[in-house]
Amino acid sequence: MRRKLLVANWKMNGSLDLCRRMFPALIDVARTQPEMVICPPTLHIAETVRHASGTRIRWGVQNVSEKAAGALTGEVSVPMAHEMGCAYAIVGHSERRAFFGESDELVADKVQACLFHHITAIACVGETLAERQAGQAFSVLARQLRLLLERFDDEAWRHIVIAYEPVWAIGTGESAQPEQIGQVMRFIRHFADAARPGLGQSMSLLYGGSVRPDCAEHVFQSEDVDGALVGGASLDVESWLAIYQAACRSFDLDSLQQAA
Ligand code: 13P
Repeated sequence: MRRKLLVANWKMNGSLDLCRRMFPALIDVARTQPEMVICPPTLHIAETVRHASGTRIRWGVQNVSEKAAGALTGEVSVPMAHEMGCAYAIVGHSERRAFFGESDELVADKVQACLFHHITAIACVGETLAERQAGQAFSVLARQLRLLLERFDDEAWRHIVIAYEPVWAIGTGESAQPEQIGQVMRFIRHFADAARPGLGQSMSLLYGGSVRPDCAEHVFQSEDVDGALVGGASLDVESWLAIYQAACRSFDLDSLQQAA
């Protein structure tokens, strides 16, 4: 069964105070499916652990080094994230690709590091507006996915989630349309299947880009969407809970639980 999850990416936002206000409001609402995953800034992971351990809330980091240890000032390794109980790591976010020059190769190396240390990688892909307007959306996605499909076998893919985040929808308040999301999700599943038969239907796909309470249900209506990666709206307790509850309704939890 494809895992369903809602992931909060706080980016470089939030504070200890936000942790203290946010977590108590989430504890009773979070279920095992869809998983609720919070990715605060790395410095706030310890505070997250304090609030979320022993609950159904999971947590993760927003970025990791591809190396396990070494003289790499400012970096955080996967073993360190694992030691802090992180179940997930976001890898290759478009902001890291654009502002920190992360290549497809580096993203694949980071995914590999995650898998080696038993952390599920949420690998981000997505085209820019210019690429979409030039009719290159699918070729960009294919390029971003190819190395991951070549390098990782079916067992490894059980621990990789793909997040489709069109760069033009991130932080704009304008989510992609459900038809656009559905079209890309189908493309990703077909592309994965062509490389690894059967993978297309078993991989978990998230959508990210201006997911807000008012559009969440539309986003989840595509049967190929298994959840969302949420930026801005995840910083507000009410918005985040509204999106999570929309996911619970859309994913028909009763049938999921019967199947489990
Ligand atoms: P927004 O939800 O703020 O558009 O951010 C999306 C994102 O980049 C999540 O990783």
